[in-house]
Amino acid sequence: MKPQVFFDRKFIPLDEANVPITTHALHYGTGCFEGIRAYYSKKMDALFIFRVDDHYKRMLQSCKILFIDLPYSLEKLIDITKELVKKNFEKTDLYIRPLAFKSDPAVGNFNLKTLRDSFLIYTVPLGRYGDIKKGIHCKISSWVRVSDNQIPPRGKITGSYVNTSLAKTESSLAGYDEALFLDHKGNVVEGSAENLFIVKNNIAYTPPISDDILQGVTRDTVIKIIKEDLNIEVKEESLVKTQLTSADEVFLVGTGAEILPVIEIDDRKIGDGVVGEITGKVQDIYNKLVHGEYPKYLEFLTKISS
Ligand SMILES: Cc1ncc(COP(=O)(O)O)c(C=O)c1O
Repeated sequence: MKPQVFFDRKFIPLDEANVPITTHALHYGTGCFEGIRAYYSKKMDALFIFRVDDHYKRMLQSCKILFIDLPYSLEKLIDITKELVKKNFEKTDLYIRPLAFKSDPAVGNFNLKTLRDSFLIYTVPLGRYGDIKKGIHCKISSWVRVSDNQIPPRGKITGSYVNTSLAKTESSLAGYDEALFLDHKGNVVEGSAENLFIVKNNIAYTPPISDDILQGVTRDTVIKIIKEDLNIEVKEESLVKTQLTSADEVFLVGTGAEILPVIEIDDRKIGDGVVGEITGKVQDIYNKLVHGEYPKYLEFLTKISS
């Protein structure tokens, strides 16, 4: 069967789901979205959707910022997503992309409250995002992270991903794998689409949610893993650039990126320039957890069988 999408209240084939060229969100970035993974377990021949409820809770917050009024409860959004994953079941990891956006014609109206909303979800197979085995090289971006009083980074707002794209393009053109953002105060806040952790003297640090970061679902999971499973202290503190280059370990975390070791920043080795010990342990636990092989965290998973 052709891949299905959920678009404006019904399931239809992907190639029939189109928007008019006049769509407000296409012109002005007035939408918000989520990125959710479903992991395929060979052992159980099932897909496990990871923390679907937390992703939709965040999406409803993003919608609030944009005055998008979804006609669905949290429970209904989860049900629709389960049904879609079942329809598009593949024996591979899937990425689930819900998108809510302003769909009225663009010209002449910037009052978010008066514009019509649309909602869709589609799925796409997605493998690894970066080199999680060897680690990556990062560049501190010359593009500053958007702040809460500009386009709130706490919402996953489509327009703010221009900021992401500029940073990512700059780092790619300069030969690096990923960009790291400073905020307007000069603190290092996150990667282009990942939250950031460092380890120094056996303590983990990550920027607080009051810095300009997305409050990541993976970040929250990793904080739990480090505290509860590795018995290591986690401090939520603002970080400056030299704390990163003098760290023992640095890694990025996100739905797409998973647990991505950083082995070099601005051409300076992090630690010994190889994947750190704690990073490796977090990777192992995270990998088990998302595949349903870590009983303590089964509540994070929604099982979909073929
Ligand atoms: C800017 C930004 N920061 C952090 C993250 C990580 O968030 P999560 O772990 O919820 O995917 C993402 C990815 O969604 C992102 O786009």
